[in-house]
Amino acid sequence: MRDDLLRLLGEELRLLRSEGIEKISLSDKVMRLLDRPASAPAPSIQPTSESKAVANTAERVPTKIILPDSLSKGASASPRAKQTKLHDPTLITPPTVSLPDGSKLEQWEWLKNRVLTCEVCLQHLNPDKKLVFGVGNLDADIFFCGEAPGADEEMKGEPFVGKAGELLNGMIKAMGLSRGDVYIGNIMNWRPQTGNPFGNRPPTDEEMAFCLPYLKAQIEVIRPKVIVALGGTAVKGLLGIETKGQMGRLRGQWHTCENTPVMVTYHPSFLLHQGTVESKRKVWEDLLSVMEKVDLEISQKQRNFFLSAIKG
Ligand code: URA
Repeated sequence: MRDDLLRLLGEELRLLRSEGIEKISLSDKVMRLLDRPASAPAPSIQPTSESKAVANTAERVPTKIILPDSLSKGASASPRAKQTKLHDPTLITPPTVSLPDGSKLEQWEWLKNRVLTCEVCLQHLNPDKKLVFGVGNLDADIFFCGEAPGADEEMKGEPFVGKAGELLNGMIKAMGLSRGDVYIGNIMNWRPQTGNPFGNRPPTDEEMAFCLPYLKAQIEVIRPKVIVALGGTAVKGLLGIETKGQMGRLRGQWHTCENTPVMVTYHPSFLLHQGTVESKRKVWEDLLSVMEKVDLEISQKQRNFFLSAIKG
């Protein structure tokens, strides 16, 4: 149990560091836990009123590590899987989206305008930042779906333009395609606020539920042959499956969303921050399955050279 806690803590610290957070403060309770000899049974950790307050106070989220309630109940969810519980009245009613008649381009432009002028979305933006709508080929066979914009994306107003985007571009190139051949979208249209320019957090269920109709409408416009769900948030949004550290089991498999086959694979950020040669190889295998599904020719070099194909 203690080893599990330390492993999860280590994972979270690596993730925070990779997101640019260099200083954190630990509560006395966590310090006492870390100080315990390995043989001592792990105490049951009840969230304090302080830690609850921190979890609900966006400004402080990145400066304090809070052991999630789920750990005290013996669940194996990673700290990242724990969501900040915001009860935001503006998110109670997700939008109803009925696409107008017209060409794909007309529908896409209508939808983009609808999202970029969505008052609730605009309300959740970080100051001076942009909403992010999907980009790419409207006739794409492959629709890559990520989680949410990060710092680079909300600055530019385009999905996957930071480090994870570079890796995604490399993966697309390894498939013999370019970014302009595929469509790239996210579950979220805004970067979930943390009150800190550096940290990212996964979206809450409410935030996801609000943005999902916009994503589904993009799928309806593009009508891709395949969707690639990049990481746990995309899996949860598209398939309603709570991954809870089960990505290793779920990836590499075909699922269905909106009558479209969905391949589940790891998120490029995971590969950047925690990726092993093995996980990169698995992602490449998943992409080969996608290529097969959309009848893309696969060369022997592509079958064999996953390591040189995916840089990271
Ligand atoms: N990660 C995502 O999931 N989406 C982006 O657009 C960028 C990083």
